[in-house]
Amino acid sequence: MCSIIAYKGYRDAAPLMVKALSRMEYRGYDSVGIATAHNSALIVKKGVGNVSYVNARLNLDSMQGNAGIGHTRWATHGAVNDNNAHPHVSCNGRIAVVHNGLVENHDELRFMLSKEGHVFKSETDSEVIAHLLESLPTTMDDMRHGYDSMDKAITDMLSMLNGSYSFVALTSNGMLLGARYHEPLIIGLGNPSRSKGGGDDDNNNDNNGDDDDDDYMLLVDECFIASDVLAFIEYTDKAIFLADGEVFVVRGITEACKPRLSIEIYNSRDGKAIVKEVTQIAWEFADVDKGRFAHYTLKEIHEQGHAISRAFFNADSKRLHLLVDALIDADRITITGSGSSYHAALMAKYLFSKICMLRCDAIVASEFTYNIDTYVGNGSPILFAVSQSGETADVLNAVRIARDNNFKKIASIVNSPLSTLARESDIFLSINAGPEVGVAATKSFTAQIALLYRISMEVARSKGINPPTLDIESSSINVEKMLEREAVISDLAESIKNANSIYIIAKGMHHVIALECALKLKELAYIHAEGIHAGELKHGPLALIDEKSIVIALNPMDDTYSDVITSVHEAKARGAYIIGVSDSKSSSSIYDFTLTIPRVDRLLYPLYEVIPLQLLAYHMALKRDCNPDYPRNIAKSVTVK
Ligand code: AGP
Ligand code: GLU
Repeated sequence: MCSIIAYKGYRDAAPLMVKALSRMEYRGYDSVGIATAHNSALIVKKGVGNVSYVNARLNLDSMQGNAGIGHTRWATHGAVNDNNAHPHVSCNGRIAVVHNGLVENHDELRFMLSKEGHVFKSETDSEVIAHLLESLPTTMDDMRHGYDSMDKAITDMLSMLNGSYSFVALTSNGMLLGARYHEPLIIGLGNPSRSKGGGDDDNNNDNNGDDDDDDYMLLVDECFIASDVLAFIEYTDKAIFLADGEVFVVRGITEACKPRLSIEIYNSRDGKAIVKEVTQIAWEFADVDKGRFAHYTLKEIHEQGHAISRAFFNADSKRLHLLVDALIDADRITITGSGSSYHAALMAKYLFSKICMLRCDAIVASEFTYNIDTYVGNGSPILFAVSQSGETADVLNAVRIARDNNFKKIASIVNSPLSTLARESDIFLSINAGPEVGVAATKSFTAQIALLYRISMEVARSKGINPPTLDIESSSINVEKMLEREAVISDLAESIKNANSIYIIAKGMHHVIALECALKLKELAYIHAEGIHAGELKHGPLALIDEKSIVIALNPMDDTYSDVITSVHEAKARGAYIIGVSDSKSSSSIYDFTLTIPRVDRLLYPLYEVIPLQLLAYHMALKRDCNPDYPRNIAKSVTVK
């Protein structure tokens, strides 16, 4: 869901921001724009298309200035056109704004501001922020160093915004100001230090009458404000993670005759200055590139052997046992997530019941609010959230609803330990999958499942139940065995690339993988696909099956094997082309094509049967000229409800 980048420091802002926006493109976009401040004036360029296209068309990276803001837009209000791209500029041309999220009351604000004489140039909701800032009693250029003037002006403005936002404003004299509410915003710090308050320049005199000497200001040589640490990790691994309702201001100052920047942060509700903790970011984020692979998606499919092992064996033992205790103590467990993470939540339901005799409910995060009364329990319910990004709005909303309903604990498994979900959970565990850039969840899904196996086994042990032996050590070997068949899978993709629909039939816990496979085919290859309980085929969907139909049967040699074969015969009798996913040799005669999976502990089949299906969806995307890393209309992190 779009990205923000802002910079102030000693480097040229534009080329740095163009590169940062490219690294964040996986988050989804439809247009791009940049504003810089140079010689006390704003320069703004923006347009429809991806970063490289718009940069080539408008020479974004040659814009002058050492302070700037940049944005990739994922439209929610207003057509996808050049005019609606961000940044948006105030009437006086001295404030530019980029915004993530949506302003729910933009119509009423637009009406109010228009009556005050403001002229709108775009159809977007975001543009109201630029005009609201311009209408502040303290104009941005004269913004003083004290919180009182900032507090009153900004608090009034933020209290008028309904919806979700992270925004950054750039003034023509190069000051940056912004805030976040339900949308991530991180401040990367170049050579940070703390100092007693000092004077400030940027043409501002200090007029708030406060004694600055007791202010602890954060001083840096340069700063980066972004939606994701990927934007600046190559420049610094020190960052501040803004929380909801926090505002920041960055301005140039002189300290010991040396130009530096001051970063002030305060709570927009009470105006109190906040001394935020500086976080050290793991450098693993820095090695994000495709390496020898054509796409991040393929690279991440190939990384699954290690991702599965790391998720299972590297779980933080202290956190793991806190989670185990919470699960055992709960009188009701609800597991939630969206998309692939919801599928992992569904798999948890099976694993908890099969491995540790724990009953739980799984529900789509966006549906949690409509079913809350069934999940409250008798006093100690817990919500267990699953999310790769930890920024999915539907999941964060479910967490907030659980808090409002006095859930005893909020637990989560995430791939981003610095995410909002991690910070809002009482207990969280990292899946340790490493950065996942491709929009389609691949290694994060199998890593989630692997960690859920581990959690189930630890709960079993705590309950005195002997857990089954699960050979996770061989995961890398098993994944490699299936990746070796990639060329065969690519040929299969070629043979079915013109399919209109694909049906994936399965039974028991394999139905979860059928749902996941259907999602991969939809989002990567733009093919309609449906995961169906095999036993349900004859109760309706069979009417759709004919000689043009493609049916994938998840058919490992476990207790579902023969029942699935029965359903396969039903589809075959109607002329369908049958692709079997199985470790069985005997049934290969019934399939038109076999995707072989290794013989593993029966509980581990789901972990491996998803891999050839991910490869199939990836290669079908290529055959159908779809960009697997950046599918149309969707984003890696859906931070709007
Ligand atoms: C999965 O391939 C999709 N990218 C999407 O369904 C995703 O799983 C969903 O948006 C949830 O994201 P999260 O795991 O970051 O919360
Ligand atoms: N709602 C704003 C728009 O439609 C911002 C969307 C985004 O987050 O990119 O322009």
